[in-house]
Amino acid sequence: MKTAPPFATGEHPSRPADFAKQDEAALLSLLDEVERRHGFVPRDISEELTRLVEIKLERLRRIQGKLDTTLRRDVQKHVAQWRDEEGNLIMILHAIQNQHGYVPREVAMELSRELGVKLARIYEVITFYHYFKLQPPAQHDVTVCNGTACYLKGAGDLIGELRNRLGVAEGQTTPDRHCHLGVVRCIGCCGMAPALVVDGKTYGRVKPSDIGGILDTLKKPEAKR
Ligand code: FES
Repeated sequence: MKTAPPFATGEHPSRPADFAKQDEAALLSLLDEVERRHGFVPRDISEELTRLVEIKLERLRRIQGKLDTTLRRDVQKHVAQWRDEEGNLIMILHAIQNQHGYVPREVAMELSRELGVKLARIYEVITFYHYFKLQPPAQHDVTVCNGTACYLKGAGDLIGELRNRLGVAEGQTTPDRHCHLGVVRCIGCCGMAPALVVDGKTYGRVKPSDIGGILDTLKKPEAKR
């Protein structure tokens, strides 16, 4: 029996973690096949495998090293710009969030080292201000207005429909980070109530039956090929 080569199913993973899982599954199935044939894994094969894994690990270490250097350089650049300013921690966090869309943990750790400020203090500031995010932003943003006019015209039904379809509550992001569901008070177009905004585009006089079509316009980030 032939062992299926990696990715032979046509389902190509798009995230590093998926690659790793498929690589691992392919490798294990290859080893199973070798064991079936020989009754054990011959030494030359296991040695060759060890050699290949070591080469791969070495490459990963080099990539990680480059990433670490880039990250440190970025943080040093932000710190250098704001070092002598009052309230510099907040300004630096703004710069970091502008760069990444959120404050990644490894960046916060590097900032703590660079500024000589405790990591706990950095997280205190991040969590105090609503503006800062600890998770990468979703690919799409759906914001429903629940101000008085929209509320009276049925914004609650729109929120309910979105909750059902996205499977998340207000203020939450779908687990695949495809969509964030937000609720705000008045977006300034009460004449079009109930209204919602999707990635900056405003939809007015929306009915719950429109929600499916609106969501269909948002493409999945990792559509399988
Ligand atoms: S209340 Fe919804 S736009 Fe004003």
